[in-house]
Amino acid sequence: MRMVDLIEKKRDGGKLSKKEIETIILGFTQGEIPDYQMSAFLMAVYYRGMDEEEISDMTAVMAGSGDMVDLSEIPGVKVDKHSTGGVGDKTTLIAAPIAAACGVTIAKMSGRGLGFTGGTVDKLESIPGFRTEIPREEFMKIAGETGICVIGQSGNLAPADKKIYALRDVTATVDSIPLIAGSIMSKKIAAGSDCILLDVKTGSGAFMKKLEDAVKLAEIMVRIGEKVGRHTAALITNMDVPLGHAIGNSLEVIEAIHTLQGKGPEDLTSICLELAANMIFLAGKGEISQCRKMARQALQNGSAYQKLKDMISAQGGDIGVIDHPETFEKARVYHEVPAPAGGYITHMDAAQCGIASMLLGAGRATKESLIDHSAGIELIKKTGDVVKLGEPIARLYTSDSCLLPDAQKAYLQAVEISDYPPMTQKLIIGRVTTKGVEYV
Ligand code: URA
Repeated sequence: MRMVDLIEKKRDGGKLSKKEIETIILGFTQGEIPDYQMSAFLMAVYYRGMDEEEISDMTAVMAGSGDMVDLSEIPGVKVDKHSTGGVGDKTTLIAAPIAAACGVTIAKMSGRGLGFTGGTVDKLESIPGFRTEIPREEFMKIAGETGICVIGQSGNLAPADKKIYALRDVTATVDSIPLIAGSIMSKKIAAGSDCILLDVKTGSGAFMKKLEDAVKLAEIMVRIGEKVGRHTAALITNMDVPLGHAIGNSLEVIEAIHTLQGKGPEDLTSICLELAANMIFLAGKGEISQCRKMARQALQNGSAYQKLKDMISAQGGDIGVIDHPETFEKARVYHEVPAPAGGYITHMDAAQCGIASMLLGAGRATKESLIDHSAGIELIKKTGDVVKLGEPIARLYTSDSCLLPDAQKAYLQAVEISDYPPMTQKLIIGRVTTKGVEYV
């Protein structure tokens, strides 16, 4: 089987067999297929797509390309959660402790941020002392005893995805439904949880800009998960506007703490409650309406906040800063962005807000970039708010004042102000299970 023939087959819209997919994915991972041929193949998939059988086969090969984590020695039903990526998305820090407080076991590997999107591991590392690299036995022990442990992704989890993603990133082939589905589900399947809850984002700050694409991606991923025996569901949620008011690592941890203390922004609180309820549902704890009630109670009675503290303490983090978030290390430089006009904020481009935060040092332009944990943006005004000319609409935080002018410019490009109020948008758009799509 020559790679050139397989590229040609996909280029002409053909269907690849499991053996052919294996040849391509493993050949590339093992260095036998060069980048230029894999790039051509990825572009052929981008334009021609793959049917569901091809996507499932590709996912299975990618999952099996490295370690398949076995969590069976941890008692209870293990539930994983994955967001397709967003700006200000600190939901794992809130939804996972809520679900854990309701008896769901979370033994989770999370990623780092790249480009305009943040990553849970970077956020957790802004907590002094917090360890995201933990030996396997200790990870199992913490998850078993505390009910929740979140660490960084091990080096050998789905190595095929790591290599393919790096190539997709530089060949304009990231936003392809089959490639995203294979990438996400291979990592989730290899990570070993019994159930998977997906948060598929749609809008200006998401890979899937159009709702119909987000639904399609969610449906495919749910079916792939179920096919390999993982109970899987997805929420379709809005990422047209950043979530909450904080973008940037320690700023987001502080917002997550406030949310678990019942003082969080409404959008973030409601999305986290729905995510947690669906995690509890997947773990088989009751009907979805009962699970929603359980999630709300865990937030209100403080048990979810206590779970976050238990996890942080078990992973070496300083609990003192959690109880006193004002003691988190502060960025040295702080600047208020004045509104360039008066009126309603009609649109905030979430991806552009993420870029502004990255320019302040909160994100990585390349995988090698170092991040500044205290950098980021506090959104004072969001879509729908009325602003006066010159009134502060955001606070920018950084350790390097030279970064402010470009970041402010980028931020102002994200914000549209006009004389008329915008249409209100739904935050939680739908829920996809094996039974189909339920629009909220
Ligand atoms: N997140 C992933 O892990 N992979 C993709 O391809 C897109 C988002």
